[in-house]
Amino acid sequence: MIEPSGPAGSRPNRQAGTPALVRRWHFASSGRPCYKAPMQAVLDYLKQNQPRFIQELSDYVRFPSVSAKTEHKQDLAACAEWLLQQHARAGLSARLFPTAGNPILVSQTPSRNSSPRPRFLIYGHYDVQPPEPLELWKSPPFEPRLAGRSLFARGASDNKGQNFAHLKAVEAYLKTGTELPCDLTFLIEGEEEVGCTNLGTFLRQHRQELRCDAVVISDSGMPDLRHPALTYGLRGIAALEVTVHGPSRDLHSGLYGGSIDNPAMALSQMLAKLRESTGRIAVPGFYDDVAPLSAFECKQLARLPFNQTAYRQFVGVPRLFGERGFTPVEQRSARPTLEINGLTSGYQGEGSKTIVPAWARAKITMRLVPNQKPGRITRLLANHLKKICPPTVRSEIKSGHGGEPYMVSPASAEARAALRALKAAFGHEPVLLREGGSIPIVNDFKRILGADTLLLGLALPDDNPHSPNEKFDLDCFAKGMLMSAHLWRELARAN
Ligand code: BES
Ligand code: MN
Repeated sequence: MIEPSGPAGSRPNRQAGTPALVRRWHFASSGRPCYKAPMQAVLDYLKQNQPRFIQELSDYVRFPSVSAKTEHKQDLAACAEWLLQQHARAGLSARLFPTAGNPILVSQTPSRNSSPRPRFLIYGHYDVQPPEPLELWKSPPFEPRLAGRSLFARGASDNKGQNFAHLKAVEAYLKTGTELPCDLTFLIEGEEEVGCTNLGTFLRQHRQELRCDAVVISDSGMPDLRHPALTYGLRGIAALEVTVHGPSRDLHSGLYGGSIDNPAMALSQMLAKLRESTGRIAVPGFYDDVAPLSAFECKQLARLPFNQTAYRQFVGVPRLFGERGFTPVEQRSARPTLEINGLTSGYQGEGSKTIVPAWARAKITMRLVPNQKPGRITRLLANHLKKICPPTVRSEIKSGHGGEPYMVSPASAEARAALRALKAAFGHEPVLLREGGSIPIVNDFKRILGADTLLLGLALPDDNPHSPNEKFDLDCFAKGMLMSAHLWRELARAN
């Protein structure tokens, strides 16, 4: 399933020498890896301690660590403090770094005096999205509820459960005295959900301590438990806000309407010009840098389990819509989009108010694919909006956050190691995904630390991230820990 001739991932800090544990690795005649006693101790530890891990994850999700709201600053600090204790108790040397925003946790496996080994960095975040609207939750968002194999709470899968799975796997090594075949650094931040505000600067300041051969992130998804996934592509993002100004104040629509332009109407007409009926984005130059999907990728994406009717019903639309000539899987992961995230103008209160509003505003984000650049795309849209803005109103444009798309070879030695770990843990052949979401910091990991990122998501499609009733599947949790336990051996072997 792997493209045979992809470029190898870069390994800037590759160290010489074969770790002892790698030499101990051997294969049964079936070709499947089998382990001598030490790995068994790790697996037994993980199995025996499941109830405690679930209890601890429940404590983790009890913190209302909502980074979007300043009123939760203390909750974020308390959550970081709790996490520090957890990492220290697991046997890691852990430290909290204050930032202009929320603290960053860095922890490391105990240092040794022997020959240098590969080092991997595990990134995650302890901040969560706002839980509103509260009335749609079946139980309070920060009071964890166990139902069957699901743990319901804000942050359960995005991202507390996923980064906790890695911690528990590492704890299993340290507590059973099983030698890890590599060195590990955890980097857990509290501002991912607001755009990783202070992390880029932190990476630059601490690039020496954070140097690594590859980054591992579990903060994405997989189709189902029988299809564990390696995500090799994420979309980028470019945000822009456009405000159309009309009269200097709201005016009586009976007295003035008809003789002046209506900014809500003008903005609507401008926005309507941004998309053709075929779903193609009608901003000149928008597709100039878009890399076409290779035949290999189309084939991979077509192999993913996807039921169009179930998908349509899950999202609750009468019919799917997307760029003509592409499948829904391609449309939502490998093609660029332009979305209106918010649209505001005029009177929104009860009843009616007959006015020509003074202004209208749209919040727009575009999801980007290789090789689109957020800066250029934002400029293209801004210029186009200015051009199509009628002379009867005035437009004001503010560009927002941006992040480049990310692509990494699924054929590198590290990627193949990750696929082996996924298969060993889930017992099924892994799939390769390109996903539509964005984690802008992955490009900084490459730029600043020189490291590629392995995205090994543990969330299921119905985990409701950013929505009411977020959950984490306890089988994903258990298998995620197993995957992590296997991963360090496989990665060390690959390096
Ligand atoms: N975990 C998501 C990103 C994600 C989700 C990647 C699913 C792949 C699959 C992350 O927490 C997120 O929501 N990111 C934001 C980025 C934005 C704030 C810059 C996004 O994608 O909207
Ligand atoms: Mn997330």
